[in-house]
Amino acid sequence: MLMVLLAWSSIFFTTLLTPTKRLWTITTAQAFSVMALSLVWFYNNQFMMFSNSLFFIDHTSSALSILTCWLFPLTLIASQSKISLEPHYRQRIYIANSTFLQLMTLLAFTTADLMMFFIFFEASLIPTIIIITRWGAQERRMEAGMYLAFYTMLGAVPLMICLIKFYSAYGSLLPTLLSNEALKEIYISHPGLLWTACNMAFLVKLPLFFLHLWLPKAHVEAPIAGSMVLAGTLLKLGGYGILRMSPLIGENMVYYAYPMMFIAILGVLATALLCLRQTDLKSLIAMSSVSHMNLVVTAVLIQSPWAYSGALVLMISHGFTSSALFCLANTVYERTNSRAMVLLRGATVAFPLAAAWWLIVIIQNIAIPPTISFVGEFLIMASLFSWSSTAFLVVVLNLMFTTAYSLYVLWATQRGPLPHHIKSLHPFQVREHTLLLLHVMPALIIILKPILISL
Ligand SMILES: *[C@@H]1O[C@H](CO)[C@@H](O)[C@H](O)[C@H]1NC(C)=O
Repeated sequence: MLMVLLAWSSIFFTTLLTPTKRLWTITTAQAFSVMALSLVWFYNNQFMMFSNSLFFIDHTSSALSILTCWLFPLTLIASQSKISLEPHYRQRIYIANSTFLQLMTLLAFTTADLMMFFIFFEASLIPTIIIITRWGAQERRMEAGMYLAFYTMLGAVPLMICLIKFYSAYGSLLPTLLSNEALKEIYISHPGLLWTACNMAFLVKLPLFFLHLWLPKAHVEAPIAGSMVLAGTLLKLGGYGILRMSPLIGENMVYYAYPMMFIAILGVLATALLCLRQTDLKSLIAMSSVSHMNLVVTAVLIQSPWAYSGALVLMISHGFTSSALFCLANTVYERTNSRAMVLLRGATVAFPLAAAWWLIVIIQNIAIPPTISFVGEFLIMASLFSWSSTAFLVVVLNLMFTTAYSLYVLWATQRGPLPHHIKSLHPFQVREHTLLLLHVMPALIIILKPILISL
């Protein structure tokens, strides 16, 4: 743990000291070494937990921490072409801020104490806002930053109060120390309200439908690394928080927090429908994230072991898929300077290999069997069916709409007659192919041993 943190923090010195010519090469190489070191946590996952008084890695956090470390070098690779055109000091500040953001995320995943988790969870907000407002491309980025800050504040205060309440009830906030007997002593008069209050911060982060308005704005305005981190790891902080808090609050929450379940199931369906009428590629991908994350909310509300595993697997697979989709959208954006899908019609003829990446990533988004998204959705659907067949039917409808909008993306960007402006676009670089390979490969390999990432 300490080794990864040291390797990671050393990037701050690199950004200060290296000559500008080598800046991106050295930081990316360092980021790859962090990624390689983090793979050790797979071993913790199977046979033992790593824990001391500061850090705590168990089945839930190891997979998400590895995802964070894996995506870190990828964000650096993805932002190179745009950012390296800027003044030198701005490049350094950008790398430092993006490193800081992802380091905070990793610390939130691995820290043992819930109060420290809360602090790191909130600390990730500041660099996110800086990245969106300073490196965003459009003029409405200030508005996106304000939305993000306001929504996050909405959730933070109830969570803080809940943590203080838990501390006074149990005398500790270390999940390892909270034994089951201590948990039964606390008397709760309105369990559903308590669940909502404690998880409000996480529901905003995920985001739950109706609390999701900040997400499409933030994604549309953010530079590529911001979008990748938001979709890949920051949303997962919310899901992780709910999974961590759930043993503290109690069982059978789905009966008490019934309205939340209703909103989540409505959100799964409504956002999938909204995707069908987007013309902006980035906001479509953001909406599809909301749809997938609402499925995670239904799973964590059901609280069965299968649902928990499904939620975790879906979060991991969605981390890779949505990040890859944003990279693909960014390749389009860097060439045409537009996010409108119609502008890249017929690209298959011009960029055949890129079309293959699109196809693979879209297949992962639909959750067709040989991908881990399928494992996640299957586990969630099975536990949803045993809870209520009506809810199951609604989510089945969602699967159809997911397929429809994913194919719509594929058709709108790849098929059709070849327009003239495509012929003058510059071809794909090795950097972009590597980036997509590193997104697609882990998601395909992990299917050989899904136990590594499930609970
Ligand atoms: C992030 O960017 C701001 C300026 O936009 C800068 O003052 C700050 O030092 C940066 N943070 C880190 C951790 O480098």
